Amino acid sequence: MSYQCPLCHQPLCRQETSWVCINRHQFDRAREGYVNLLPVQHKRSKQPGDSAEMMQARRQFLNEGHYQPLQHGVCRLLAEVIDSDTTPQRVLDIGCGEGYYTGAVVQALSANANARVYGLDVSREAIRSAAKRYPDVAFCVASSQRLPFMDSSVSAALRIYAPCNPDELARVMRPGGYLLTVTPGPRHLLQFKALIYQEAKLHDAAPESLPGWSLCKEESLAYPLSLSSDSAATLLQMTPFAWRARPEVWGRIATVERFACETDFILRLWQLQP
Ligand SMILES: C[S@@+](CC[C@H](N)C(=O)[O-])C[C@H]1O[C@@H](n2cnc3c(N)ncnc32)[C@H](O)[C@@H]1O
Ligand SMILES: [Zn+2]
Repeated sequence: MSYQCPLCHQPLCRQETSWVCINRHQFDRAREGYVNLLPVQHKRSKQPGDSAEMMQARRQFLNEGHYQPLQHGVCRLLAEVIDSDTTPQRVLDIGCGEGYYTGAVVQALSANANARVYGLDVSREAIRSAAKRYPDVAFCVASSQRLPFMDSSVSAALRIYAPCNPDELARVMRPGGYLLTVTPGPRHLLQFKALIYQEAKLHDAAPESLPGWSLCKEESLAYPLSLSSDSAATLLQMTPFAWRARPEVWGRIATVERFACETDFILRLWQLQP
């Protein structure tokens, strides 16, 4: 028992094909194994989060392995902080998308019988395809503005390029629990920016302010990519600058032999002060 009813905040108990709270609010388990804990009245739009096209673009690009070094770095840092003692260890991937990192975290923690990995995203399309591909992860559709977990029930959380309500994060995290964030470093995809903006500015890499958390570790991970024109277009589609790219930019990418660009990630490990 770890999910919380999004309507009355009581614990949800697992039944054969659904999750139910003491007030009989019921959430069915989908065929793919995930549970939708986003009530209609909490939705800001009809189809919140990434669309099916964005999700498919991300899956295609990630499948090609370009971000595998990041996947390894995330798994290594999380495995270092998850104890293999006898208490349940819940690891939550917030805004997990189609589950590329979530699925790898399950594998990295597979020797730890007490670890359970959860993936949460507001996009039903993303969660549906994540659940199909990674059956060992407990996936739910929910908003990171209202996390459907009981207080102090999560041991570690992962947040890769995804928004989250900091008060909610602190509420669900056990004291001393860890948060791993991944954000763009100064030169991340600078070559795309140079195509789109007159003046390509470096990302501001200052750590965000997370009151109540202490920063334990910070690592930079940067490496070059040499992309085919198809992969470059897919990557551009995944980024927030896609909607700013004029047709000439897409045209230029479509005709390059190879597109060289830099990745630059910052991985930060935070601990919730007890
Ligand atoms: C840039 S993607 C990153 C996905 C994944 N972490 C990755 O790196 O592959 C951001 C994700 O956050 C999700 N998202 C956006 N707003 C959200 C919210 N309020 N609650 C939960 N997920 C949200 C989107 O649907 C999308 O899957
Ligand atoms: Zn309820």
